Amino acid sequence: MGSVDWAELQRNLEATIPVYDKINRFATLGQVNRWRRMVADQLPGDGKILEIGCGPGSFAEIVRGGDLTCLDPIQGMLDVAEKRVSSVRKERGDSPARFVLGTAESLPFEDNSFDAACSLFSFRDWFDKRAGLAESLRVLRPGAKITIADPAKMNGIHGLLGHAYMRFWVGAYARWVCGVKDHPWKWLTKTYVHFGTTRDYVNMMRDVGFVDVKGKVIFPGMATIWQGTVP
Ligand SMILES: C[S@@+](CC[C@H](N)C(=O)[O-])C[C@H]1O[C@@H](n2cnc3c(N)ncnc32)[C@H](O)[C@@H]1O
Repeated sequence: MGSVDWAELQRNLEATIPVYDKINRFATLGQVNRWRRMVADQLPGDGKILEIGCGPGSFAEIVRGGDLTCLDPIQGMLDVAEKRVSSVRKERGDSPARFVLGTAESLPFEDNSFDAACSLFSFRDWFDKRAGLAESLRVLRPGAKITIADPAKMNGIHGLLGHAYMRFWVGAYARWVCGVKDHPWKWLTKTYVHFGTTRDYVNMMRDVGFVDVKGKVIFPGMATIWQGTVP
């Protein structure tokens, strides 16, 4: 993941938990939940679903039905997600979700064991995206789809503008919300800088072995949704 140190990124991500949803809504101009619903609509109504990089459960809580597994490398994120997701699933009468510690690059699951996978605002943090995609391919059954959402760049110039937006505007807001100068949110702007274009990851998904790969820009510089199918 370029010059960004993954372990340090993870420590900083953990520190964002209390303000995560608030800053995300602000940084995406209130659009983030609409994008999450767009991904949720792509998931099958039943079957085994894997969310890679569930964070504090902001997406997992809106997944209705299915047999849901939430994976994240930070135990603190899983603890928050479990509390939040378990209660909404119980209220809705859905089966309990599972919460598993692990990374995308080394998924602790058997081959062909899921009917769908998704990853929202996490892919850009994976320290080896190609390995993570290959692992997703391995654990999905033939015909299953992976759906990924993250803020890809359109091109270099766009990347610079997006970086300026994240650094100065979102940075100032995050400093104000966190009440500290050296706020952890700035780490999320670092992974944004190192993240590629929509096309880069369409190509990577194809190289790894997914078919029918598509990358749709939902909001330039803030959200692309990629989808690929296991042959
Ligand atoms: C910004 S949160 C996203 C939470 C949620 N998916 C959402 O919609 O808001 C990103 C999560 O990805 C996780 N993550 C970072 N690197 C990862 C990796 N290599 N494999 C799996 N998850 C990772 C982080 O621990 C973090 O909890």
